Amino acid sequence: MSAASAAAPRRDDDRKLFDDTKLGVKGLYDSGVSKIPPFFVHAGKSTADAADLAIPTVDLGGVAGGGGGDLRRRAVEGVRIACEGRGLFQVVNHGIPEGVLEEMIGGVRRFHESESRRDWYSRDKGRKVMYYSNSTLFNVAAADWRDTLVCEMAPSPPEPQELPESCRDIVIEFSEQVHNLGLTLLELLSEALGLKPSHLKDMHCGEGLVLLCQYYPPCPEPERAMGCNTHNDGTFLTILLQDHMGGLQFLLDDQWVNVLPQKGALLVNIGDLMQLISNDKFKSASHRVLAKAVGPRVSIASFFRTSFGIEQASKLYGPIEELVSEENPPLYRETTVPGYLASYYAKVWEENRLDTDSPLASFRLRNDEDRQMQAVPGQEEP
Ligand code: OGA
Ligand code: NI
Repeated sequence: MSAASAAAPRRDDDRKLFDDTKLGVKGLYDSGVSKIPPFFVHAGKSTADAADLAIPTVDLGGVAGGGGGDLRRRAVEGVRIACEGRGLFQVVNHGIPEGVLEEMIGGVRRFHESESRRDWYSRDKGRKVMYYSNSTLFNVAAADWRDTLVCEMAPSPPEPQELPESCRDIVIEFSEQVHNLGLTLLELLSEALGLKPSHLKDMHCGEGLVLLCQYYPPCPEPERAMGCNTHNDGTFLTILLQDHMGGLQFLLDDQWVNVLPQKGALLVNIGDLMQLISNDKFKSASHRVLAKAVGPRVSIASFFRTSFGIEQASKLYGPIEELVSEENPPLYRETTVPGYLASYYAKVWEENRLDTDSPLASFRLRNDEDRQMQAVPGQEEP
């Protein structure tokens, strides 16, 4: 081996050095870099101008408090049309005070701008609360220009002192409120599927709540980087709170469109697990976040999915029985949530093709033979 090649840093060494700072992309930005490190460069990134999308708005006034009647019927209908279409809508009059939303964005920003964030830096999947830059830093070709604080708030929330002080109180307050909103939305989604209101909740779709508190620092070379690469959420449902900066895009009919922030509103999108159990009735939406020269941008994605805990981990999810028939045969085989997530991350880790091939595809039943295999006795839940 020549001296030159021995001395040349391996690709992973740069990532390791970056990871060891425990200060994330924010630290890199603060150090004053004028070029992004090569492992942040996204090749072949499309910079085509995107149109702004007016997304459907569902008014939850009169619904969130358990109300019924006309308002509720209208909300269910709005949810049905949105979920059968693009899998994306925003909610207003959702019951979470604007002050709570603003303080949540402020708290997350405080955390990411605190020196003490270093103390929370970890890649230990067993932790309920941790901070990192790019969960897949060592696996993907190009990393994203963002940092993340993860808080797993349900089914068993962390002790308050297990949360960073900079955002502790508001994370607890916000997660309670967003959890309630998620459960309300699951009722509306159940009804929109023609099921009884408690159906999805009874399936434990709203039992797990993970907050991904994202921070996107300004980027010196935004046209070469990505804030968050193309993906679908591995959730039943995601509720997104974003600040006023913009940059979020959804892929609709093969076109990227901007989803602009609307003050006080919350974005709701269907995840892959909901598409699977609804047997394709509801659509999981592909999305990404562009890197920008200006920032920071802060967002909080509230992920609804069951826990990795012992009891729920083995529960099988397949197309809901009431939604399948002779004419509507099941389109997916059953999987556990961890089974689905393992397949999801294998796409990122081993194949690095999350943006071209949905993880859902590997659960799709292709023909009658596959369906008969699915129906083999002994595969049902006890
Ligand atoms: C996510 C996500 C979008 C955003 O965390 O899955 O898509 O605006 N976030 O940060
Ligand atoms: Ni997402």
